[in-house]
Formats: sequence, C-alpha cells, structure tokens
Amino acid sequence: MAARGQFSTRIGFILAAAGSAIGLGNVWGFPTNVASNGGAAFVLVYLILAFLLAYPVLMVELLVGRHYQSNPVNAYRKLTGNIIGTIVGIIGLLTVSMILSFYAIVGGWIVTWCLHYFAMALGMTDAANWLVAFGNTRNVIFTIIFFVLTAAIVRNGVSEGIEKWSTRLMPLFFLIIVLLIIYVATLDGAGAGFRAYLTPDFSIITDPELIINAMGQAFFSLSLAVGTMLVYGSYISKKENIVSLGIWVAVLDISIAIVAGLLIIPAMYVAQANGVQIYNEAGSLISSDGLLFSVLPSLFETMTSTAIIVPIAFFTLMIIAAVTSSISMLEVPVSFAIENHNLTRNKATMLIAGSILLISLIIVFNFGSLFGLVITATTEWSQPLLGLVISIFAGWLWHRNNILEEIKQGNPDAASGLFFKIWPWYIKFVCPALIALMFWRSL
Ligand code: PFF
Repeated sequence: MAARGQFSTRIGFILAAAGSAIGLGNVWGFPTNVASNGGAAFVLVYLILAFLLAYPVLMVELLVGRHYQSNPVNAYRKLTGNIIGTIVGIIGLLTVSMILSFYAIVGGWIVTWCLHYFAMALGMTDAANWLVAFGNTRNVIFTIIFFVLTAAIVRNGVSEGIEKWSTRLMPLFFLIIVLLIIYVATLDGAGAGFRAYLTPDFSIITDPELIINAMGQAFFSLSLAVGTMLVYGSYISKKENIVSLGIWVAVLDISIAIVAGLLIIPAMYVAQANGVQIYNEAGSLISSDGLLFSVLPSLFETMTSTAIIVPIAFFTLMIIAAVTSSISMLEVPVSFAIENHNLTRNKATMLIAGSILLISLIIVFNFGSLFGLVITATTEWSQPLLGLVISIFAGWLWHRNNILEEIKQGNPDAASGLFFKIWPWYIKFVCPALIALMFWRSL
C-alpha cells in the first residue's frame, strides 16, 4: 500500500479543512436559515451551538483521525475494538457519499449559472437560456462536469491535489466575498437588509424548530460526523498543535457564514427594492433554491450589462465554495478504497466518483421524489445522529490516556490548558446529552 498522504504545511491544512467547511452551507444555507428564522435570533443560537456543540465534535474527529492515522472505518473499528465501530464508519462513509450525490447536482447548477452570464456577455442568448432552464439533459451534463472537476483534484492526492487547490482557491474566495459585500452595500435597499439581518426576533429563540435547524446547520457547515474531518485530521502531522488548528477551522467557518449573511441578505433586500418578490403571501421566505436561482438572478438582471462581472464573481465564489467542499467528501470513500482495498489513488478516485455519479443520476431522473428526501435523511438525521454516536465513542470508549496523549502531541503545554481539562469531560456528558435532547425535542 502506498504511503499515506499528509498536509505539507499548517496553513495548507487550515485552508483545506476550512475549504471543506465553507461551502454552499455557508453562502446559501446559513443566510436562508437566518432570513426564515428570525434574523439575528438564529445567528445567536447558531453561534452558541457552533461553539458549544459543533467545535467539540470537530475536535473528536480531528483527534481520532490523527491518532489512528486511517479512514473512519478503520479508525472507529480500532477505537471501539469491535464491529460496531466498523458499522458506524461505514454509515458515515455512505452518508458522505449521499451528501456528495446531491451536492454535485447543485454544484452543476452553479456552473451553469456562471456560464450563463458568460454566454450573455457573448450575446449567445439561446445557449444562455438553455443553461439555466431546468432539464434532465442539462442536469446530467453539468453533474458530470462537477464530478470531473472534483475527481481531477482528488486523484492528485492530499498535498498535490487537495492542499494545493485549497491554498489557491480559498484566498480567492475571501477576496471575492469581501468585494461583493462592498459592492452590494452601495445599492439601494441594502440598508433594509442589514437591519433585517442584525435585528433579532427574540420571540422565537426557544422555538425547537429554530434550534434544530441551527444544530443541523452547524453540523453540516462544519462537515461533521461523516468522516471528512477525521480523514483530514489523519493527514495532520504529529508535530502540529491540533487544538489550535481546530479553532482556526471553526472560527473561519463560522465567520464566513456570518459574513455571507452580510452579502446575501442585503442582496435579497436590494432585489426586493427592485420589485422582486422575496417573501410569499404567507410571509415566509420563498423556497431556498428559489432564492439562489431566481431572486439573486433577478437582481443581477436589474444591473446594467456592464455589471456582468458581478454575477460572474458571485457564481465563481459559489463554485469555489462547492468544489473545495466536494473534494473533502470524495476523499472519505477514496481513502477507504485505497487503504482497505489496495487500489491506487487514481483507480479509487475514478471508481468511487463514478459510483456516486450514478447515485446522482438516479436522483436527477427521480428529482421530485428523491432530491429533498436525500437531503433530509443525510443532513437532518444521519449527521446529528452520527455526531451523537461518535461523541459517545470518544467520551466513553476511547481510553482517556490515549486522548490526552493525542492532545499533547505537538502541544507540550497542553496539560495546563482549558481544553485539556474540560473537553474530555465535556464530550463524555454534555455533547451526547445536548444532541439527544435536541433530537428528542424535534420529534
Ligand atoms: N460543509 C459543507 C458546506 O457547508 O457546504 C458541506 C459538507 C462538506 C458537508 C463535507 C459534509 C461534508 F462531509
């Protein structure tokens, strides 16, 4: 078996893991959740859950991954010492593959929208319209293209593929999002958006629906519980301080969600000021894909043709967000195929990308019945439940000395830190109890 890959630099890991975390969930999911769940009230609950619940679970994955130096199936098998760990690892692997199967369809749409504006700029109106009209042919072609992009990076390995591309793309992402926010802030109506974003409706802050949405959003956004962060953690050098790496990733992800709100919510209100409907008669936000693929495009339409750069920049931003996340998803089953089935990376990537593509195509051809179902099953059920199970694993089954040893690697003073004192206890009692409680309330 070939040697395991490793991130070559600290910043390389941070940008790759932040790239995994920062995705459509931040730029699209978070702002839509905010807009439909009481504005800043949702932001507040989200912040609390992200730090109190998601960050500790993120650390479980990074630590388990680095300690066992293997994919989730082997790592949980070794941790539990029995088949239960193997089964949980496999469920994680299947969940992440199913997440990738719908994510790639949406990724394909984003590519079509980006190309749409190029076609418009070139005066190719028919092509431009075809690109954004919902249809099986279009969906199939662009889902395939999205898989090709993803696989082309993953087949080059950890440092030459994932790390290299994350280090190139993420700084570009940060730059584009800042420029877009500045631009949108200058438009009429943006002020109302900032007010809506920053004014909380506290009356709904204890609403179980809001809390469960915030929890799901936090798990999805930090790419938790499905093995992604575990695999990335397994590529971190033993010389690195993993606690501070984890903080970097969590803070970047959470900040970018909040920053994306500063872009999307004002943009929605600018669209409204231009006569586009954003809330339906019942007063709720129009459906979330409607937001991305109809509200914002209608906003872009109201801009003069010289501003075509704005929608192109926006959808480029989305493509970066989607690709740096999808490579992390594909890496989970790929690492499993390489390590447990002795495939070369190239073969493993092709085989697995091809198989998940098939699932995507099944969803495309049964869109009405499968698309929403797969999203709900993976992100609202599987992810939080796996989060519950793996915090129980780490809290109750993982030998305390092993945990403490792992935290100390690359961080000799760890024993005097707060994390060291609190986290093992926290992950044992608080995390499982909180997740279970929220589940129970949501039922
Ligand atoms: N965190 C990504 C986002 O916010 O879009 C989605 C994601 C990536 C979920 C990787 C799960 C995963 F394993």
